[in-house]
Amino acid sequence: MATIVLTGATSGIGRQAALSLSAAGHRLLVVGRNDTLLEALVRDCTARGGPAPEPFRADLSLMREVRRVAAELSAAAPAIDVLVNNAGAIFDTRRETAEGLEMTFALNHVAYWLLTRLLLGNLAAAPEGRVVSTASAAHARGHLDFADLQSTRRYTGWGVYGTSKLANILFTRELARRLSADPRTPHVTASCLHPGFVATRFGDDNGLLMSASIRAAKVATALSEEKGADTLIWLATASDPASRHGGFFEKRRPGTLTAEARDDEAARRLWDATAAITGEPA
Ligand SMILES: NC(=O)c1ccc[n+]([C@@H]2O[C@H](COP(=O)([O-])OP(=O)(O)OC[C@H]3O[C@@H](n4cnc5c(N)ncnc54)[C@H](OP(=O)(O)O)[C@@H]3O)[C@@H](O)[C@H]2O)c1
Repeated sequence: MATIVLTGATSGIGRQAALSLSAAGHRLLVVGRNDTLLEALVRDCTARGGPAPEPFRADLSLMREVRRVAAELSAAAPAIDVLVNNAGAIFDTRRETAEGLEMTFALNHVAYWLLTRLLLGNLAAAPEGRVVSTASAAHARGHLDFADLQSTRRYTGWGVYGTSKLANILFTRELARRLSADPRTPHVTASCLHPGFVATRFGDDNGLLMSASIRAAKVATALSEEKGADTLIWLATASDPASRHGGFFEKRRPGTLTAEARDDEAARRLWDATAAITGEPA
């Protein structure tokens, strides 16, 4: 059975994945920001007969919290088979974290990058470590402006969200390249996914216009959380992860990428820019 770290485990796609992975007998270290929701998840997993997930609390929009929880995770699990970067959100108006980063960029991109960076040694200690990141087809709405990564000049909720999901795909490509090139990590793989449009709490914590329009779209077209978690669970557990290294998947098949999401030079630049923001070595 695998040791799996899963962020965004208290709701939606992540919660469904946690329920299924626990029911399959995996050891889960679940990261959430709300103790009540974490406790409910532990109860629901054990009620279904799975091992109790180990809860870790962190606000992943803050780098200092990512660092603290990474240290706790690292001590609890010296070898990690799978890290699932899944926590994410959309914000209809621009807001900044207490550390001065634009919130979407901080939560949806910087947290993925930093948590992965800090847990790489643990992933390398597993026989077949993997990093699975929840991206989105919404990357097509995004565009990386390296002169304004914090979106101070122009902000739209969907545009900045799309850019953060574009960043997840570029992160996965550059991570895959680096893992393969590093003699310590040739056995570690990275992949990302579009879960589909899924009826979760996604978008609910926003002003009336955005939350009502997303709710209406969910009623009309959204997938169930079970279907939404399927590709994530598959990437986390299916055999032969090397065959999916660096890829973006939807419904267990390669997904469609925009030209910008295939730009390996942009992926390198984003990696270096993120390292500089976090203060970690590139
Ligand atoms: N739903 C879709 O149609 C869709 C489509 C494409 C991609 N995605 C992606 O799927 C992922 C999961 O989203 P979802 O649809 O399952 O949405 P969701 O139901 O809103 O779940 C989001 C999860 O992220 C957690 N989270 C949010 N802010 C956080 C923070 N500051 N620190 C720590 N955790 C935080 C939430 O914690 P709380 O429970 O405490 O709020 C929750 O567990 C996201 O990356 C999203 O971009 C979703």
